[in-house]
Amino acid sequence: MSPVDNLEAAWERLAALGKMAQHRDCRSLFADDQNRAANFSAHTDDLTLDFSKSSIDAEALEALLNIAKLADVTRFRDRMFAGEMVNSTEQRAALHAALRAPENAGLRVTTSTGIEDASAFVDGERRRMRDFVEAVHSGRLVGATGLPFDTVLNIGIGGSDLGPSMAAEALTLVSGGRMRTRFLSNVDGHAFAALARELDPARTLVLVASKTFTTIETATNANAVRNWLAAALGDAAIQTHFVALSTNKAATAAFGIAPDRVFGFRDWVGGRYSVWSPIGLSVALAAGWPAFQSMLDGAYAMDQHFRTAPLAQNLPVLLALVGIWHVNAMGYGTQCILTYDARLRRFPAYLQQLEMESNGKATALNGQKVPRATCPIIFGEPGTDAQHSFIQLVHQGTQIVPVDFIWVAMPDHDRPDAHRILVANALAQAEALLNGKDLAAVQQEMRQAGTPSAIIDAVAPHRVFSGDRPSNTIMFRQLDAFSLGRLIALYEHKVAVQGWLWQVDSFDQWGVELGKVLAAQVLPSLHGQTEGPVHNGSTTALVNRFRALRGEA
Ligand code: F6P
Repeated sequence: MSPVDNLEAAWERLAALGKMAQHRDCRSLFADDQNRAANFSAHTDDLTLDFSKSSIDAEALEALLNIAKLADVTRFRDRMFAGEMVNSTEQRAALHAALRAPENAGLRVTTSTGIEDASAFVDGERRRMRDFVEAVHSGRLVGATGLPFDTVLNIGIGGSDLGPSMAAEALTLVSGGRMRTRFLSNVDGHAFAALARELDPARTLVLVASKTFTTIETATNANAVRNWLAAALGDAAIQTHFVALSTNKAATAAFGIAPDRVFGFRDWVGGRYSVWSPIGLSVALAAGWPAFQSMLDGAYAMDQHFRTAPLAQNLPVLLALVGIWHVNAMGYGTQCILTYDARLRRFPAYLQQLEMESNGKATALNGQKVPRATCPIIFGEPGTDAQHSFIQLVHQGTQIVPVDFIWVAMPDHDRPDAHRILVANALAQAEALLNGKDLAAVQQEMRQAGTPSAIIDAVAPHRVFSGDRPSNTIMFRQLDAFSLGRLIALYEHKVAVQGWLWQVDSFDQWGVELGKVLAAQVLPSLHGQTEGPVHNGSTTALVNRFRALRGEA
């Protein structure tokens, strides 16, 4: 097929190539091309993306790149970095890149009230954060009883929790960090009850992290923590122990947090893109300011790569296109993330919000129904734990589940053998998914083990692995603050590219609103109020059962 110059025709061509690929075995692609591993990999510095273990051949890659070109991905990218309102349904820019740009970057942003100097605002808040972190670490800032803070309690949910908790764990799991961090997200009272048992209020610095400062879970938890702290140290201690990270100054003031304890950002930073903003203060307190700065630098390095590398060598673009191939050409509906690094334990959960809240949408930017599938279901775990839970389905289930394997060459512990075993497992899983094991090989293996032929006949089919199952490998030298920032930004930009290709608004999240509204409507019913909106019959029955079990009805 020859290249097409019309976007819809390019999507049709991709679908046609996908149909052909359904009948092709990706193992044969390695046999056909001795340089396949190199030809279907890309690098920036020590970071490698290998997507050779997929059914993408040269023609498919060319078709994918053609879609990116015809969809004008580079223009969209440039508009995003120029601070234009790429979040059209909320009339906002998506300029989280300004948060990690070096000082005096001069980035400007379009807002509803005009053009603002984004960099000037970011630089100012970043300096305030750095001074605050240094004051806490040096002991210049202490708690109400004069004791230094040794624990940071971050209260926030969604983007105000997942990024910070993931990054703080990644950067401090081995070293222990400068301060202990705890994260309170769930409104479930059990979560705070467990924390209250272990925390010392006199030594706890509380960060209320909420972009809007209106989120019910965070407000409920913040009130609970305020009461707990005031009961132990008195009301006056709140001023000393509480910090707010928010865009909503009026609400932070109403909560009683002094302006010099509020670190701000703007509404052009989406919640799931906010770990680089003051929302990341817990990371800086846990890992130290130099580490936080290095995380920003790593993300900035990825921004530069994304902005300048040609599409065919551009890691976020390629990662996005591989995903597009799997969803739109091959029809796969899931994406598994396996982090062969215990420090990245929370990375799959972080990506669930980043990818699914961004691109889990069915309405296109033009208001019409999106004509094709969008974001797959993202799930994952650290390897090797996953190998002993859901990997069975990934190898032998009826659905094909593409996997991203993520691992590093150099560990930060002194047991190189353990690390080699870990990496061997990651490589072996990817190879097993690709190569599989056919019936003849299984039968021969069983014969050699002296298995009776009746048992071979009965059991061998169960031990067959179809193979031909795709995976990416993302590997780099070492997990440190810089490479973590770079990794997060890689996925952020992947998501932006995919959103643009699917023509959805990756920066809004209207899908989470209805549940919030209904929760507020159900709440009075749980208190026994009978007036108000009529619920669905099942909801009403469950409310009644709830009240009966509690002896309230
Ligand atoms: O529920 C969705 C959401 O709006 C996320 O997008 C956001 O990260 C989270 O809630 C928390 O919001 P906030 O930081 O405003 O409390």
